[in-house]
Amino acid sequence: MNITLKTGIIEKEFAEIVVFYLYEDLQAVSGSLTYCDTILNNTISELLKKKEFIAKLNKTITLQTYGKIPARRIMLVGLGKKKDVTADTIRQAAGTTACIVRDMGMSSVTSVMDSIEVATPDSDRWYQAYIEGCLLALYKFQKYRHVSPEEKKEPKTLTLLFSNKEALKPAQGGIKNGKIIAEAVCLARDLVNTPSRDKTPTILANTAKKLAADLKIHCRVLSISELKKLGMGGILGVAQGSNQPAVFIILDYNSRAKNQDTIVFVGKGITFDSGGICLKPAKDMDQMKSDMSGGAAVMGAIQAIAKMKLPQRIIGLIPCAENMPGGSAIRPGDIVKFHSGKTAEVVNTDAEGRLILADALGYAEKYKPNAVIDLATLTGACVVALGTAVTGMMGNSAELKKRVKSVGEKTWERVWELPLWEEYYDQIKSDIADIKNSGGPHAGAITAACFLGKFTEKYPWVHLDIAGTAWTDKNSAYIQKGATGIGVRLLVQLIQDWTQFPQKDPLNKSPS
Ligand code: BES
Ligand code: MN
Ligand code: ZN
Repeated sequence: MNITLKTGIIEKEFAEIVVFYLYEDLQAVSGSLTYCDTILNNTISELLKKKEFIAKLNKTITLQTYGKIPARRIMLVGLGKKKDVTADTIRQAAGTTACIVRDMGMSSVTSVMDSIEVATPDSDRWYQAYIEGCLLALYKFQKYRHVSPEEKKEPKTLTLLFSNKEALKPAQGGIKNGKIIAEAVCLARDLVNTPSRDKTPTILANTAKKLAADLKIHCRVLSISELKKLGMGGILGVAQGSNQPAVFIILDYNSRAKNQDTIVFVGKGITFDSGGICLKPAKDMDQMKSDMSGGAAVMGAIQAIAKMKLPQRIIGLIPCAENMPGGSAIRPGDIVKFHSGKTAEVVNTDAEGRLILADALGYAEKYKPNAVIDLATLTGACVVALGTAVTGMMGNSAELKKRVKSVGEKTWERVWELPLWEEYYDQIKSDIADIKNSGGPHAGAITAACFLGKFTEKYPWVHLDIAGTAWTDKNSAYIQKGATGIGVRLLVQLIQDWTQFPQKDPLNKSPS
């Protein structure tokens, strides 16, 4: 879809449909809508007066213009109450607009941006959110099905219309970033929606190499022999039950940055999680192709950050393996030794994510990072605790948690903190190894994070458990069933807003 931006008046706008946004509590015709109302014999003000159209968020109504203005139709889109407007309201309303325009088979749409009436039209974030909403809403995963020409139709041009020049500059910036971000989210969604046999660890590594070449950034892929040399018994142990060899993907953006913070993103890359010898039940096992959502988010975020040319150094670490119950699979009771030298008793082969992350988090130390954020579809317990609307957050740095929480609100990829108190660590004590990989049924999301906490003591760290948020079973304004692409927008915004991390931020260490 082509996105253009211009100043002009509705009287002269040739489009198949023009869109006005309205607030529920200001059921009134104003601005350039007044002109349309008058020329349409007050149809619009009548509709509002009689409450035949109430501008609740994502409610819409379409009217014909019968040649009275150049545009063939007018659509009114509700934004909800004015006091409740946020970037996400705009994102949703934009998504609703885009889908309706597409479903009506129209090729050109003009949005009257002044009708959104935000208090700070000079800030690019509204326009970024608007573009994100449009583009994310139009996403479909069609690679594996026959698509009729009808279904293929997408609006060709979206014009953002402004009445005066003031907002053009922030709108330009917002459109540019909105496009970059939406593209990155769609990359992550594509990777997650792809069936596991078409995204083996080896295939993912090739995807990462190609991505890095396109972005002109560094990429290194550690193979089995290198993982052995590095003593990464966690990754190797998880992969040993599969015919697919493990890989460890390292993306390095801005490797030569000077006087800039280094931030490491770690993403869980289990390309399929059968549970291993502790086999999962068949119901919904197909969804376990999404167990590399953390890794997909890291790839998407790095793509966007590189395209935006942000100044920080960003490292992406994606340990990839397939968790399968083959004849050489790791057994309950086996002990693995990680890159850091610590050992763990594998009491449950289905708690594989923490095993591969332990190696990656230990490896992250070598970059002397100012901050490390890991994203993982780590525990069903997190879904039980928090549901599917919010990501679980745990970590050892109050400052980093604060930053993540605040960008979570901004991007509406919200996070909620769970505690990592000392008492919880007792649950992962082992009689025969340093720790064990399952803390039992109580507080499963927390004890999984405690396990990771044993490998993150040297740097500020936040863990995001995206088990509930990476996948959805229902369509909403700009997210369709399937992969959500969670984490991409959060990570990118975190870096967009990044200021030098305080050196003396005290860490909450795990008990020894
Ligand atoms: N990948 C799963 C967690 C998961 C569950 C993600 C549902 C998305 C939706 C993870 O590897 C897992 O199996 N965790 C176990 C841990 C347990 C054995 C300690 C779990 O949550 O049951
Ligand atoms: Mn598992
Ligand atoms: Zn898993």
